[in-house]
Amino acid sequence: MLKHILTLGIVLSTVVHFSLVRAGLASEGSPCSLANNHLDPATHKFLTDCDDRSFCFVDANTNSTGGSTVNLTQNDNASGICAKKRCRSDEFPFGFAPGEQLPPQCGTGFFCPDSGSGCTPINKPGMSCELNRDAQCSQPPGSHDLASPLNSNGSICLRSQCMYANITLGLQCILESTLYAGYGTNGMPYSITILRDNCRSPRLYCDQSSNLCERTKEIGQPCQNDKECLSTSCGVANICVHIPGQVVIIKPWEYWLTSLAIMGVMTSICTFLTLSHKRHRLARSYELLEYHHEQIR
Ligand SMILES: *[C@@H]1O[C@H](CO)[C@@H](O)[C@H](O)[C@H]1NC(C)=O
Ligand SMILES: *[C@@H]1O[C@H](CO)[C@@H](O)[C@H](O)[C@H]1NC(C)=O
Ligand SMILES: *[C@@H]1O[C@H](CO)[C@@H](O)[C@H](O)[C@H]1NC(C)=O
Ligand SMILES: *[C@@H]1O[C@H](CO)[C@@H](O)[C@H](O)[C@H]1NC(C)=O
Ligand SMILES: *[C@@H]1O[C@H](CO)[C@@H](O)[C@H](O)[C@H]1NC(C)=O
Repeated sequence: MLKHILTLGIVLSTVVHFSLVRAGLASEGSPCSLANNHLDPATHKFLTDCDDRSFCFVDANTNSTGGSTVNLTQNDNASGICAKKRCRSDEFPFGFAPGEQLPPQCGTGFFCPDSGSGCTPINKPGMSCELNRDAQCSQPPGSHDLASPLNSNGSICLRSQCMYANITLGLQCILESTLYAGYGTNGMPYSITILRDNCRSPRLYCDQSSNLCERTKEIGQPCQNDKECLSTSCGVANICVHIPGQVVIIKPWEYWLTSLAIMGVMTSICTFLTLSHKRHRLARSYELLEYHHEQIR
């Protein structure tokens, strides 16, 4: 998990880095083209002609594309103008000055698309969604047992389609592999492949060769990818390992055993000291007794 958070952190920092460099330059009121809405091939960040504060708005009355109800799959060449974002999905979005009024966040049952074009109702399974935006998909009934850190309350967005992460052991699953590329802090290029699937996580994962849901592996079992391990860490020797630096969880029996051992050692030290003191005193009293006898004689 920690490793995933770290990699996500690296990915995000790269996205930040790229967004500073690569975001559209057109500011509010400038013309833009919907055709230029795309994901950056390396970082997969959503990019448009417009800057971080605005989105490419096409008037729904004059052109069929619609600006507020963005169709995530279409890519018409309709021209529009950059308009101020109507919603935000991040607590602190880029591009806004400190103290400036931010676009609102969406309420429950709605999501803010990456473009920021306005709150949109959450999608049912089979409907479209944006890369990694699991929260754009409606949660399954009884999402409790499907929810995991690898999905959003049991829903997942794979290959631009909403679905439930509900596939059980031995059944066919959908595996999405995304390559993220960027530059590390030392300027060296690097890449990470993130695998996502619709198996019931974290107990199951989608096997790359069979495309069937299989049981995640315990510590010490052979692995090819982090996702195959319950610990989410496949070590250098291709064996599932604990994540380095992970908090060690002590089981109740280990506490009991340790406490008992400490008590045992303390009791035996006390007993030993008491006995040796007694023996010492006995020896001394015999000595005194002998002395007295000697004096009396
Ligand atoms: C999105 O656009 C595509 C092609 O333009 C169309 O086939 C699809 O039905 C549209 N989806 C929605 C939800 O409007
Ligand atoms: C969009 O424009 C590009 C060139 O700018 C053209 O090749 C493409 O056919 C156009 N697509 C549509 C749907 O008009
Ligand atoms: C609608 O879009 C077309 C290009 O697809 C553009 O030529 C036309 O000017 C647009 N209409 C309006 C009213 O903006
Ligand atoms: C998951 O569901 C709980 C309760 O139904 C809700 O409070 C929470 O916000 C949901 N999380 C996401 C990421 O949608
Ligand atoms: C999983 O969810 C889909 C809806 O996305 C549903 O059609 C299917 O029956 C579910 N499968 C299982 C095994 O619950």
